Amino acid sequence: MLEMKNISKSFPGVKACDNVSFSLRHGEVHTLLGENGAGKTTLMNILFGIYRQDSGDVYLDGRHVNITSPHAALKHGIGMVQQHFTLVPSFTVAENIVLGLRETNLFVQTSKVEERIAELSDRYGLRVDPKARAWTLSVGEKQRAEILKILYTGAKILILDEPTAVLVPQETRTLFEALGKMKEAGTSIIFISHKLEEVMQISDRITVLRQGSVVDTVDKSATTKTKLARLMVGKDVLIDVQRETVEPGRALLEVRDLKARDDRGLISVNGISLEVHAGEVLGIAGVEGNGQRELAETIYGMRMPESGSILLDGNDITGASISKRVGLGLAFVPQDRKGMAISPNLSVEENLFSKNYATQTVRCHALFLNKRDISRVSKDLIASFSIATPSEKTKTKYLSGGNIQKVVLARELSSEPKVIIAAQPTRGLDVGAMEFVYRTLQQQKKKGAAILLLAGDLDELFRLSDRVAVIYSGRIVGYTPSDPSYREKIGLMMSGAASEGDER
Ligand SMILES: Nc1ncnc2c1ncn2[C@@H]1O[C@H](COP(=O)(O)OP(=O)(O)OP(=O)(O)O)[C@@H](O)[C@H]1O
Ligand SMILES: [Mg+2]
Repeated sequence: MLEMKNISKSFPGVKACDNVSFSLRHGEVHTLLGENGAGKTTLMNILFGIYRQDSGDVYLDGRHVNITSPHAALKHGIGMVQQHFTLVPSFTVAENIVLGLRETNLFVQTSKVEERIAELSDRYGLRVDPKARAWTLSVGEKQRAEILKILYTGAKILILDEPTAVLVPQETRTLFEALGKMKEAGTSIIFISHKLEEVMQISDRITVLRQGSVVDTVDKSATTKTKLARLMVGKDVLIDVQRETVEPGRALLEVRDLKARDDRGLISVNGISLEVHAGEVLGIAGVEGNGQRELAETIYGMRMPESGSILLDGNDITGASISKRVGLGLAFVPQDRKGMAISPNLSVEENLFSKNYATQTVRCHALFLNKRDISRVSKDLIASFSIATPSEKTKTKYLSGGNIQKVVLARELSSEPKVIIAAQPTRGLDVGAMEFVYRTLQQQKKKGAAILLLAGDLDELFRLSDRVAVIYSGRIVGYTPSDPSYREKIGLMMSGAASEGDER
């Protein structure tokens, strides 16, 4: 029903799509797979009318179409949930959806919209309150709102750019169930993901891209995870980072009876105490929305605690500014990178050298560097973190999703921090980059950093952590050894069903 033929698109210094052909059948889930920067988002941005291809054609049911804007794409029944969400924070879900229907009359009754949303939300099992303001929604809810926004327009083709990168396993399951129902209703879905497991689970066909070109399109039934990984990278890939245990040193991070509120003003960190020692990774397992985010933000100083205290290498930093904390050796890789960790309109180099958290600009690295040094160090970081960018002067927003994350990681991990808070550090990264992050964190640990790792993915936690703490409803409900044999037990603790762990 949809065909993209011989699509090419270049940006200064990079051919993002090189003669790509791609087709989508009625009611199929077709996955786009490829490393960071392979051209997946670009191809979909062309289909959704955000970019114009340099050459090549798009056909819908055999008819040639010109898609010149997202608005035009929606008119053709094509909708996209982008890698970074686009809801207006102060509007309700329903208002956001009305906003998406620009062409319809301005006097749509919100109550009617709300009704219809509730109906769609029921039909597909996409739970979200139409009256809730977008800024109060969890990541999963925002995504469901974005999907509803598209279904509302009656789209027949739904593009999902790395939807599961921001979801915890339970939410992914719900999303997949919804996708199944959409398929039954005749919707075709283009799905982007780096997680081979789920690609094998949800896809009918898979197209693999490498450096802007199609390597192959295969039927799910005729392939395996190993084959896909090989197609994607061009060689065998196996993440092979073994955890090395080092003798833990003194406590570098101490959190005592910490309480903090979330954006809605509700207590979401409810009396957490923990210690992370030099040379140790403490993994925090939990379903998103149980206080992880607020815990991380409070330790970093973006959120002030209600009560309790935080010590960094013995210094009380409970009320300190972010720059003071950074100066004392604290680094933070937040989960919402585009929103928080980088300034999209600044160059890669500028983002490598300063961070801007809530209008507080914080310089990292040595204070007295001249321009030439900055440029040299940037180039080194770009090389050692394999950041794919035409140059260090390129605006960061032009990088692919995975490469933006590498910029944050390069900045945070290169300053020899004493304490690192890493929230979902490999979200959206391809296998190669993931392995790189694992190695880097492991190196930092061996050098004596204390690492607090927050991750939804238990495999990632087991791979990196020395101990695992489970968070539920703002409290640490127990500790377990970092071992896959505890998966079940952790799962129960994460859901609040079991509350005591094993040894600390
Ligand atoms: N607006 C732009 N200006 C300049 N370069 C761009 C722009 N958009 C994308 N690129 C470049 O095109 C290439 C492909 O990027 P794209 O975002 O399509 O990759 P991707 O496959 O989606 O990667 P990821 O898995 O990291 O999201 C990258 O090298 C990227 O830097
Ligand atoms: Mg992308």
